[in-house]
Amino acid sequence: MQAKNQKIVVLGTGGTIAGESNSENEGFAYQAAQRSISDLMQSVAGKFKALPHALTGFQIETEQVCQIDSKDMDFSIWQTLAQRCDHWLSQSDVHSVVITHGTDTLEETAYFLSQVVQRNKPIVLTCAMRPANFKDADGPQNMRDALNAAAQLAGQSVWLVAAGEIHHSLYVQKVHPTRINAFDSGERGPAALVSDDQIHWQTDALDKTSNQSLNASLNVQSLPNHSQWPWVEIIFNCVQSDGRQIKLMVDAGLKGLVVAGTGNGSISQAMKAELLLAQSRGVEIRLASRCNQGPVVKTENHEFPTYGTLNPAKARVALILDLLSKPQSHAN
Ligand code: SIN
Repeated sequence: MQAKNQKIVVLGTGGTIAGESNSENEGFAYQAAQRSISDLMQSVAGKFKALPHALTGFQIETEQVCQIDSKDMDFSIWQTLAQRCDHWLSQSDVHSVVITHGTDTLEETAYFLSQVVQRNKPIVLTCAMRPANFKDADGPQNMRDALNAAAQLAGQSVWLVAAGEIHHSLYVQKVHPTRINAFDSGERGPAALVSDDQIHWQTDALDKTSNQSLNASLNVQSLPNHSQWPWVEIIFNCVQSDGRQIKLMVDAGLKGLVVAGTGNGSISQAMKAELLLAQSRGVEIRLASRCNQGPVVKTENHEFPTYGTLNPAKARVALILDLLSKPQSHAN
């Protein structure tokens, strides 16, 4: 692909990729979100003699959307981020958007954007597990790979590029707290591997361009102000879980609840009784599994709907969006 007068826009949100520790040998104790997105771009330019060939002809523009540790990501920033993606991708000279993001909630942001930004162009998130001043910082290579992918991808889809892998937003999950390669896509595996600027796709072409669970009734423009988004929580079924907190949450205004069930979505009898009571009071219940791979396979024993392969954190996002797409059901 040869780009002429096309742009890739890089949006900074913070995270470890923009983090700093007290010394170049300290990779775990650091402050996230210290360096600006333009500083990060300069580090990429400074580290490598040349950028990947696929970037030839592309202009790169940067914008700092926020500067946070992603554990503090919130609906207000999500709304702004989706609006900035939509703004840039609506412009004919913008080919794609890259977002630098903390690893901790990246999969939720990626899934959220995949559901609400409806432009026929890709969004590529990237991140790092070591701070920017660490001696073997992984951020610059990840950014290089993300830019390379952003230059070559087409169509509406949201991706994560990190540690030499490309993952689809639908499947990707952070699975390790400290390892450099902290993400995987469960049974699907990565969509592609990246090495020496070459992208090797592992799955069929459909996965590259389709957005399989797009919530067709919502987009950036139709989302109400973030202050109106519904309160949705996740509850785990564990030994001795009796769901006694469910009534307290419903009394306090809960609108939706995702149950991270044991195994194939099983729920203790006591918790199920509380869930049915909550449901009778108008709370939407969805079922996921606390296992970190595979969908819940629905049987007649399951009382509540599922979102297929979505893990509990993404199922929560899906339920928030479902509630928002039903008029009047989402008032906080
Ligand atoms: C964060 O999620 O912002 C901090 C952790 C990380 O990026 O790895």
